[in-house]
Amino acid sequence: MLPTKSDEIVLKTVGLTKEFGTFCAVKDVNLQVRKGDIHALIGPNGAGKTTCFHLITKFLSPTHGKILFKDQDITHKRAPEVARQGLVRSFQISAVFPEMSVQENVRIAVQRRREPLKHSFRSDLSLSTLNERCDELLEEVGLTGFENSKAGGLSYGRKRALELATTLALQPELLLLDEPLAGLGQEDIHRVAGLIRKAAIGRTVLMVEHNLSVVATLCDRITVLARGEILSEGDYKHVSSDPRVVEAYIGGGKRNASTCTESVAANDNLSTPARIEQEA
Ligand SMILES: Nc1ncnc2c1ncn2[C@@H]1O[C@H](COP(=O)(O)OP(=O)(O)O)[C@@H](O)[C@H]1O
Ligand SMILES: [Mg+2]
Repeated sequence: MLPTKSDEIVLKTVGLTKEFGTFCAVKDVNLQVRKGDIHALIGPNGAGKTTCFHLITKFLSPTHGKILFKDQDITHKRAPEVARQGLVRSFQISAVFPEMSVQENVRIAVQRRREPLKHSFRSDLSLSTLNERCDELLEEVGLTGFENSKAGGLSYGRKRALELATTLALQPELLLLDEPLAGLGQEDIHRVAGLIRKAAIGRTVLMVEHNLSVVATLCDRITVLARGEILSEGDYKHVSSDPRVVEAYIGGGKRNASTCTESVAANDNLSTPARIEQEA
């Protein structure tokens, strides 16, 4: 029987393991990311999220295990190669040049994407097409009107938006985000969460996030890591009511599962997608 679209797995890790000397930071992780999902990898500090992310994005090599992207073994491929296949990491690969304008930053990213494809000087490399694509990307991330602003002078939230635009210029199929909401104020959290929701249309997103409440309404599926292993997996309702998750997050069993849900209610604005998109 053919799987339904939502069952299509775009990224899979098999027994993914990373040892640093005698210490095992990621242990036998079998992750499956469904096409079209916003999938979060969460867990308390030291859980192995960043290590896992570095393995998937090819910044680290695993000690054991395999990584499959669109059914192809990418375990030993390099980051630029997997980026060309559509697995793109944001907020690192897409350096923003602070002295350049917003428009110039996006233009460089669009050119970078097109250059490997230029078999000939076809009209799709024309300046007007380039500008059109830049305008589209800026609109997508809510930066229309900021074209001539210096990137370095943007607010933190808008810098993230610009970074996202330069990443989207690379046309990712699977977008990987490392703590995209870390360090943001409440208002910027809404703005960037809205951008992620928008960027996920027609794409798959895998994001690492420390904060369980932030991913509550943004993510279709959540994998909780603790001490390098998968502790729980499912939608928010499932993982937030899993006592092992509550224990791992809150520690010492001082609070119960409902506290987890309460912390989400405190961030309730996030559960209003219409408002998020408006703000973005
Ligand atoms: N390069 C490294 N060398 C040794 N230990 C490391 C290295 N990178 C991470 N670790 C350890 O691996 C564990 C998981 O780290 P990390 O993946 O950064 O966790 P998280 O992102 O979930 O906070 C931590 O105990 C950390 O100290
Ligand atoms: Mg980390």
